Amino acid sequence: MCCLHTCNMGSWHPVMPGASAALVVFIVCISFPAMAAAAGASSDRSMSLPGCPDKCGDVPIPYPFGIGEDCAAASRNNYFNLICNSTIDPPWPMVGYPEAVAEVADISLEHGEMRVLSPVRHICFNSNTTSTKFTGGYQLQDTPFLPSPSRNHFTVIGCKTMGLIGGQKGAASQYVAGCYSYCDGVNNMSDGAPCAGMGCCEAAIPANLTTFEVKFEMNQSKVWDFNPCFYAMVAEVGWYNFRQQDLTGSLGFMNDRAQGGAPIIADWAIRNGSCLEEGKDTPNDHACISANSYCMAANNGPGYLCQCSKGYEGNPYLLNGCQDTDECALRKQDTKYEDLYPCRKGDCHNTLGGYLCKCKTGKRSDGTKFGCQSLHSPAEKLVIGKHRLCKQFISVHSFIYIM
Ligand SMILES: *[C@@H]1O[C@H](CO)[C@@H](O)[C@H](O)[C@H]1NC(C)=O
Ligand SMILES: *[C@@H]1O[C@H](CO)[C@@H](O)[C@H](O)[C@H]1NC(C)=O
Ligand SMILES: *[C@@H]1O[C@H](CO)[C@@H](O)[C@H](O)[C@H]1NC(C)=O
Ligand SMILES: *[C@@H]1O[C@H](CO)[C@@H](O)[C@H](O)[C@H]1NC(C)=O
Ligand SMILES: *[C@@H]1O[C@H](CO)[C@@H](O)[C@H](O)[C@H]1NC(C)=O
Ligand SMILES: *[C@@H]1O[C@H](CO)[C@@H](O)[C@H](O)[C@H]1NC(C)=O
Repeated sequence: MCCLHTCNMGSWHPVMPGASAALVVFIVCISFPAMAAAAGASSDRSMSLPGCPDKCGDVPIPYPFGIGEDCAAASRNNYFNLICNSTIDPPWPMVGYPEAVAEVADISLEHGEMRVLSPVRHICFNSNTTSTKFTGGYQLQDTPFLPSPSRNHFTVIGCKTMGLIGGQKGAASQYVAGCYSYCDGVNNMSDGAPCAGMGCCEAAIPANLTTFEVKFEMNQSKVWDFNPCFYAMVAEVGWYNFRQQDLTGSLGFMNDRAQGGAPIIADWAIRNGSCLEEGKDTPNDHACISANSYCMAANNGPGYLCQCSKGYEGNPYLLNGCQDTDECALRKQDTKYEDLYPCRKGDCHNTLGGYLCKCKTGKRSDGTKFGCQSLHSPAEKLVIGKHRLCKQFISVHSFIYIM
């Protein structure tokens, strides 16, 4: 599915107590591409360049991503150019063509994230000494992508095995981390147990991880007959949950649960450039070209993202891409929006960038700006019943302006 060609050799030196400090050389697969997350825009308006496909199969493709060079912001980074592989049904977008391709599951403009499926690294033994393996890593220097440190971790599955992840953080600093998983049988572990070192383990990954590779240090001698395969992956937090049977059978875990690969959340950004100081003119090549949009610094690595201003939604990377959110229409569409855009017992009126909550005749603001109440509360009615003249002093209705 990915990353099987254009490999070159890389090396790094794990320095660990108890582990042999030999120079470790292994295969590096060049490049990976991104992952995506649905933007959740509530309207049908296109998120892609005019005349360009806005979907591949079931996956929306918002600009700066696009299918083909003319539909993507390829001049900013050629990795925004995706291919739509229609030999599969339904078709799947793929990133990283031609060096190394990964399947794109979804793209989020709002969070600057892409979810991709990445093959699981593994080594399998069919005797005490003979094995097959797939290790290797990624080189992301020239791509807009970096694995998200908050939304992924490094997970290792196996008995008596240490999984290692090593590479480059940013331009200069070296990085090695890993974790050890122990077990001497499969029976004393329970499904759903946390990956805390019995059957599986986890390690955090850092920001700015531009290059990384995975390898194993294990002693299979006493375990290979019940636990023939060891797995390691950078994967989305919350995706993997331990099952005893993931330890047994040759490639059982991959065949059952990770056939297309494991999901990784990649942070992407416009890497070339940065947000301008307030008050400065926008240069011609700035990516945030829609009215009612703003620039936000990337939180992993260099560069920036564009966002629609509050009360607007759509695609800030397109001319007029950010359009007014019709909060009142959304309220009618789905009750979950009644909490998001409250207007209790009032009439909702959409405005550019916001909405008005207007109280009907006989009601007034409930004091929260987001709702109305009867002109007379029960207590007031009681009082008014006794002193009928007072009611004339209460205003008939009020407008509340929100946003
Ligand atoms: C990005 O940077 C390169 C050189 O580093 C430059 O040639 C290119 O014009 C820049 N592109 C944008 C869109 O700023
Ligand atoms: C499209 O998908 C098929 C099946 O997974 C794969 O063999 C082929 O290499 C893919 N094409 C491209 C261009 O990645
Ligand atoms: C795990 O189970 C094996 C036998 O199934 C037993 O020998 C071993 O002591 C158990 N280990 C732990 C840590 O409970
Ligand atoms: C692996 O474990 C076996 C038995 O537990 C031991 O004899 C052997 O020396 C170990 N191998 C290494 C490389 O540590
Ligand atoms: C398995 O092979 C290792 C060396 O790779 C050796 O140290 C160990 O004794 C062997 N274990 C068995 C049970 O043959
Ligand atoms: C990541 O790299 C950028 C520059 O490329 C740097 O400003 C930032 O401090 C780095 N962040 C971390 C966590 O290393």
